[in-house]
Amino acid sequence: MNAPLKGLAVQAPSYVRNAKLIAWVADMAALCKPEAVHWCDGSTEEYDRLCQRLVDAGTFKKLDPAKRPNSFLASSDPSDVARVEDRTFICSDKKEDAGPTNNWMAPAEMRATLQPLFDGCMKGRTMYVVPFSMGPLGSPIAHIGIELSDSPYVAVNMKIMTRMGKPVYDVLGADGEFVPCVHTVGAPLEPGQNDVAWPCNKTKYIVHYPATREIWSYGSGYGGNALLGKKCFALRIASNMGRDEGWLAEHMLILGVTNPEGKKYHVAAAFPSACGKTNFAMLIPPAGFEGWKVTTIGDDIAWIKPGADGKLHAINPEAGYFGVAPGTNIQTNPNCMASLDRDVIFTNVALTDDGDVWWEGMTEEPPAHAIDWQGNDWTPAIAKETGAKAAHPNARFTVAATNNPALDDAWDDPKGVAIDAFIFGGRRSTTVPLVTEARNWVEGVYMAATMGSETTAAAGGKQGVVRRDPFAMLPFAGYNMSDYFQHWLDLGKKLEALGAKLPKIYTANWFRKGADGKFVWPGYGENMRVLKWMIDRIEHKGEGTEHVFGVSPRYEDLNWTGLDFSAEQFDTVTHIDKAAWQAELKLHAELFQQLAHHLPKELSATKAAIEQRLAA
Ligand code: GTP
Ligand code: SPV
Ligand code: MN
Repeated sequence: MNAPLKGLAVQAPSYVRNAKLIAWVADMAALCKPEAVHWCDGSTEEYDRLCQRLVDAGTFKKLDPAKRPNSFLASSDPSDVARVEDRTFICSDKKEDAGPTNNWMAPAEMRATLQPLFDGCMKGRTMYVVPFSMGPLGSPIAHIGIELSDSPYVAVNMKIMTRMGKPVYDVLGADGEFVPCVHTVGAPLEPGQNDVAWPCNKTKYIVHYPATREIWSYGSGYGGNALLGKKCFALRIASNMGRDEGWLAEHMLILGVTNPEGKKYHVAAAFPSACGKTNFAMLIPPAGFEGWKVTTIGDDIAWIKPGADGKLHAINPEAGYFGVAPGTNIQTNPNCMASLDRDVIFTNVALTDDGDVWWEGMTEEPPAHAIDWQGNDWTPAIAKETGAKAAHPNARFTVAATNNPALDDAWDDPKGVAIDAFIFGGRRSTTVPLVTEARNWVEGVYMAATMGSETTAAAGGKQGVVRRDPFAMLPFAGYNMSDYFQHWLDLGKKLEALGAKLPKIYTANWFRKGADGKFVWPGYGENMRVLKWMIDRIEHKGEGTEHVFGVSPRYEDLNWTGLDFSAEQFDTVTHIDKAAWQAELKLHAELFQQLAHHLPKELSATKAAIEQRLAA
């Protein structure tokens, strides 16, 4: 069983004609030494078979088919619950190209480190060959990746999250390009050794080689660490492609918003992890907004390219949502709840006694009893006594975009949608007002570059700490952050030179808290009131007041029909505290000091101008 694989075992199906791919799979099989190689075809039969295999292995529990048809619950190892930012590396040739915000190791040194870890790492397991397309299959903007993984959980998640399967090989042809992605849970099985429900390894490496466009992931089976099409490819590697080729790969939702007259706008919004992208992308306009409609193009990642028309066109490279469960309910996000009716993989939520799922915030009334994400009995009394959570705070669902009742008709149009506005928003309990419009592109880039946000459970590490998260890309920019700022500035200049009207840039903050520690802004669907103001501004109809770093609405500038929100409450979420902003600017200064190498001088100049206005 441990002998090197015979040639026959890696024999590719006849429809795989790419010699480079076949040779690479053979090399990787020789290195990782799996017991078998399975070439995924992406069929429903294959998906069903793999899900059954996961049920048999104890990784999946099948949920009640009447309550939650064709849906499963996976519970991870308690140590493997989120992205591991401190174990994520950008291995560019030069350290300065990874920049001060990324972990770096010289490629040769990293290869030498990983070689012994990957040697034999798949022993006793099957290596799945997962062909996928980020973006509509065969479209000129799409890119192909092949993920080799010893996790069937990864294979079935990739089926939902990407265009995965046999048709990818038709596009790839005999000599097409692909991004090679190697993933292992890092838990080889010796002969006779029993497997565990969620294999993983204490040692973890999430490694990117930008020069050769390669991804190597070791030791984790969870989310962005393991579903390599998502953060690793569509953000970290793609941001490098975008810099070289003049486009953007961003941590952004994309939505369409149609007014009662039938005019449609498109907005892309970057909020850090677990800060409201999925919710905003599926927003249902509240009372007072009859005739308005919001539709989803994407909920996490946008690839944005300048078109011949001088506009920025955005596509969603993904095909599914890997979204945060806790806090999602029929009031906060009805479209999301409807998406989760069937054909879902849940990870780390609680199992109810009637074979369904539950998480904190799903219903006002918790179930009397459930099995928590770690397999323990959970009751409201236990929760009260010990603080035990039924679901892990970073519990997630995996579901196809086509399950979303608000899916935009153009969601997989290879032409993408023309962006009218960008929004950048952090999670800030103080200081940052509800919404601000930048007066120009450079000011907008400055706001995005200096954005701060409180950390969430989406990443390992301490939660609730304010950190700078430029463009919501801190964990995802695949090269030097200052060069990334420059890339945004250059793109703006290039489009302006073409005489194009650039998208407006806004910052938003739904998360200011009152003296009672509670969110003051009602958020969710009510965010429509802010979105409408942005559209008014695009149409030169919206009023506002100019302050030290941009333009914000006054109370009377928003539509309040259907919502009881007083001018005093509005003041709590909008007022600009001079002392707080002076302290905030010190944090901007710290960031700029850290990013001094290649920091665009326009940004330092913008900072100086704000400081001057603050001092006046
Ligand atoms: P990633 O998938 O990690 O990139 O996150 P995301 O930005 O898509 O976050 P998501 O929309 O899933 O929201 C994360 C959490 O924030 C959930 O618990 C939501 O209930 C909560 N949330 C979303 N929008 C709002 C809002 O407008 N106000 C408040 N208070 N909470 C919100
Ligand atoms: C995020 O953390 O921003 C996510 C979840 O979207 S994961 O795919 O796990 O990175
Ligand atoms: Mn994300």
